[in-house]
Amino acid sequence: MKLFLDTANVEHVREIAAWGVLDGVTTNPSLVAKEGKEFKATVLAMCELVPCVSAQVTAVDAPGMITQGEEYAAWHKHIVVKVPMTVEGLKALTYFKKKGIKTNTTLVFSVSQALLAAKAGASMISPFVGRLDDAGENGMGLIAKIMEAWSHYDFQTEVLVASTRHPEHIEEAARLGAHIATIPYEVFLKLPKHPLTDAGLKKFLEDWEKVKK
Ligand code: G3P
Repeated sequence: MKLFLDTANVEHVREIAAWGVLDGVTTNPSLVAKEGKEFKATVLAMCELVPCVSAQVTAVDAPGMITQGEEYAAWHKHIVVKVPMTVEGLKALTYFKKKGIKTNTTLVFSVSQALLAAKAGASMISPFVGRLDDAGENGMGLIAKIMEAWSHYDFQTEVLVASTRHPEHIEEAARLGAHIATIPYEVFLKLPKHPLTDAGLKKFLEDWEKVKK
C-alpha cells in the first residue's frame, strides 16, 4: 500500500519523506491557496522529494484540461495530472491515457463514477471518504464497494483513498486492500504514535538507568 501526503506545504513533504515511508503527494487548488505559494515552484520542489505528485487542472472543459495537463506533465516526470470526475474530465482522461500521461481522477463519490474513470484509463481514482462521512454517508463503505467491484475485473486503475480525516481511515483502507491513501499532515503525525509505545519506552529507559554502569 502506498502512502501519500495531502498537502501543498513543501516543508511538510520534506519532513515526512525523511521517515522513508512516503510514496507521493496530492495537491489541490484549495491546498495550494492555503499555502499561498507559487504553484509550479511548489510542485517542482515536491517532485524532487517524492516520485509521484498530483497537480490538478482548473479548466472545466476537456480541451482546456488537456492544454493544462500537457503543460504540467512536461514540467517533471513525477507529475500526475489530476482531473475532476465530470464528462469533460472523462474525455481528457481518455486523451491522457493515449498519450501515456498519468492521471488521478478527483471528486469521486460513487461506484459508477469510479467505474467510468477506470474505463477512461485513469491511473488512479480518488474517492473522498471524509466528505461522504461529513454528508452523513459511509465513506469507507464506498471504498469497500469499489474494491469489491475491482476484485471482479482487471482494472489497472489504483484506488486512492482521499479526504482522510483520522488514522482509522488509513487502517481501514489497508484492510480493504486499497492501493493508496492520501493523508493530511496532522493525521500523518498521529500514525507512528501509541500511548503504550511511549509508556513502554519510558519504563525501559528507567530500568536501564538502574543497572547501567
Ligand atoms: O486531495 C483532496 C482530498 O483529500 C480532499 O480532502 O479534507 O478537503 O475533504 P478534504
